[in-house]
Amino acid sequence: MPPPGDYHADAVALHKYVMSKDQLQLMNNPQAVLDAIDDYVNNVKHLMIYSDKKLNATEKALATLDLKPKVLVELGGYVGKSAVAWGPMLMKLNTATDSTSSIGIRESGESLRRLKEEGIEHIDVLFLDHWEKFYVPDLRLCEELSLLKPGSVIVADNTDMPGAPDYLKYVEGGGEGGWKYRCESIEVGGSTKGPSIVHIAYCEATP
Ligand SMILES: C[S@@+](CC[C@H](N)C(=O)[O-])C[C@H]1O[C@@H](n2cnc3c(N)ncnc32)[C@H](O)[C@@H]1O
Repeated sequence: MPPPGDYHADAVALHKYVMSKDQLQLMNNPQAVLDAIDDYVNNVKHLMIYSDKKLNATEKALATLDLKPKVLVELGGYVGKSAVAWGPMLMKLNTATDSTSSIGIRESGESLRRLKEEGIEHIDVLFLDHWEKFYVPDLRLCEELSLLKPGSVIVADNTDMPGAPDYLKYVEGGGEGGWKYRCESIEVGGSTKGPSIVHIAYCEATP
């Protein structure tokens, strides 16, 4: 978890800033929305968002996969920075011309169960960016629901700061009960104050 702060007020202030921009420029233009969020974060106030450096590192890692990812699930939305970025990124990786996104405002475990009920068979990319204490229970829930398959990738933020030791112990230990993971930590550099690692666990085998 990040240090205490008024995260709701920060999000409202960012929303006001984005809405003060020329709306015609933002419409149907995810990059312009991302740029507006970055303007605010770089020039007005830092917010707990997934940075461009991390998005670029993630895209580079996903581009190396044999099967291009189509279904990405993010656990831990905030102001939508990463959520807005995933659609265009997946389209680029798949050389596709459209994508569908849906946002659920509910607790992560409930969201995963609902996805399964709604017919999502497998997740290609699971992005963990909620509170770190949920990383292991939610990954184990994905395993229990058979939402992961060999080739699925788990991208986790904040494993270096504030840290997710239980999660690292589990995936870097290779998984349990027939689940097998291989891990990679990508240092994105830059800020000396914030987390700078993108942690990736590649699912290699299922029971
Ligand atoms: C670091 S922020 C996410 C930043 C976001 N990915 C972005 O780039 O805008 C973490 C968010 O996860 C949410 N969160 C924490 N635990 C959660 C849980 N169990 N289920 C759903 N959301 C959760 C928090 O309320 C917070 O909004």
